[in-house]
Amino acid sequence: MRANLPSNANIYPLAVQINEMASRIEQLLGTHKNLLHSVSHELRTPIARLEFALEILQNSAHDIKSQDRINAMQGDLGELNTLVSELLNMAKLDQQHSPLQLSLIHAESLLDRCVNQLPPYPPQLQVHTIAQHNVPDIYGDPRLLPRAIVNLLKNALKYAQKEIRLSIEQDADRFHAGVWRISVEDDGPGIPLGERAKVFEAFYRLDRSRDRATGGFGLGLSIVKQIVELHHGRIEIRDSELGGAKFVIHLPALTPEQPS
Ligand SMILES: Nc1ncnc2c1ncn2[C@@H]1O[C@H](COP(=O)(O)OP(=O)(O)O)[C@@H](O)[C@H]1O
Ligand SMILES: [Mg+2]
Repeated sequence: MRANLPSNANIYPLAVQINEMASRIEQLLGTHKNLLHSVSHELRTPIARLEFALEILQNSAHDIKSQDRINAMQGDLGELNTLVSELLNMAKLDQQHSPLQLSLIHAESLLDRCVNQLPPYPPQLQVHTIAQHNVPDIYGDPRLLPRAIVNLLKNALKYAQKEIRLSIEQDADRFHAGVWRISVEDDGPGIPLGERAKVFEAFYRLDRSRDRATGGFGLGLSIVKQIVELHHGRIEIRDSELGGAKFVIHLPALTPEQPS
């Protein structure tokens, strides 16, 4: 994702610089996580300063044309801000050497909690939750696990036509510790087989015209993957019987004696 402004826009030089910085950040992602963290952190101050300056400008601008332009600039800054906080979030997860904050999470209420965290969505969309009867509590991080599921749900909201399904079940028998399967699926366009590994890479978005309209930086799924891996789990993409994509998180049974 790059800031795409016309060359006569007031903050064009800033956008060019940020784009260059974004490209550098992208190249460095693999090896220089600390640098990523400090650069993102450094970006916060100038962004905040610009927000403040725009706020003041807005109060002194009286004609509608300037107002409109200021609003547009504020929109761009908002986007930059989102990018910077997502980058910081990601860096934080990367640097998480300490064990997860594990506790027992009630499976069924976990699903409801995630759905309740969603931003308002169009009334023609329905989100169904399905919890297997008596599915045992999950031992996981009560902050990170919902964040991963909510990221998947937010994607589903962008692509679904009518229906999104969030479900949880557990495979268990007398001899093996259970594996939880948390799935998020929708009736949208789905993800082609060849793209399924790549969408988990940071900044990767499918090159489809509709993706541009949906916004986003391509960081959501890489954050999901990191969270799942911190839980020693894995995530895969399948075809949903609803017609779209089905993301399945497999979580092994962690026990209090065996934290990350
Ligand atoms: N439910 C889905 N249906 C179809 N495509 C999806 C779905 N979820 C994710 N994608 C594709 O994967 C890409 C990466 O997703 P993500 O990392 O969350 O980034 P973002 O949401 O910022 O684009 C999306 O841009 C989209 O092309
Ligand atoms: Mg996303």
